[in-house]
Amino acid sequence: MMVIQRTLSIIKPDATRRNLIGKINAKIESAGLRIIAQKMLRLTKEQASAFYEVHAERSFYEDLCNNMIRGPVVVQVLEGENAISAYRDVMGATNPASAAPGSIRHEFGESIDLNSVHGSDSVDTAQKEIAFFFSQIEIL
Ligand code: CMP
Repeated sequence: MMVIQRTLSIIKPDATRRNLIGKINAKIESAGLRIIAQKMLRLTKEQASAFYEVHAERSFYEDLCNNMIRGPVVVQVLEGENAISAYRDVMGATNPASAAPGSIRHEFGESIDLNSVHGSDSVDTAQKEIAFFFSQIEIL
């Protein structure tokens, strides 16, 4: 079934450092997803830890949070048909080594830790993650 959804995207510090914001946004827009909110910010350790709270018990949590604060991120709200799964296709698999050709992570990801982008994984998560970064008046 086709439904219009919104999902949260983060262009991570490894990608902003390599000047990839435009190339990543081109892939997003080429896939028919609309960027309906976007801002650049630098996360504090507390903010990164809170955002990734769901992974708090995982072995990679500390590295993940540290990688997210190494430089600026671009947080975005994407909208379109089945936006959550559509963006997961555009991103490719979490590990760039397994990501499909043409996907963001295949083209730009350096490793599972430095995989250039994050995207919400469900309707529930998308709602929470969008509200984490954006207020209602910031979203078109
Ligand atoms: P992301 O979509 O931002 O969600 C959590 C991040 O943790 C993930 O992308 C990866 O960059 C990172 N990570 C590191 N190791 C793993 C792992 N074994 N499984 C899942 N995510 C991992």
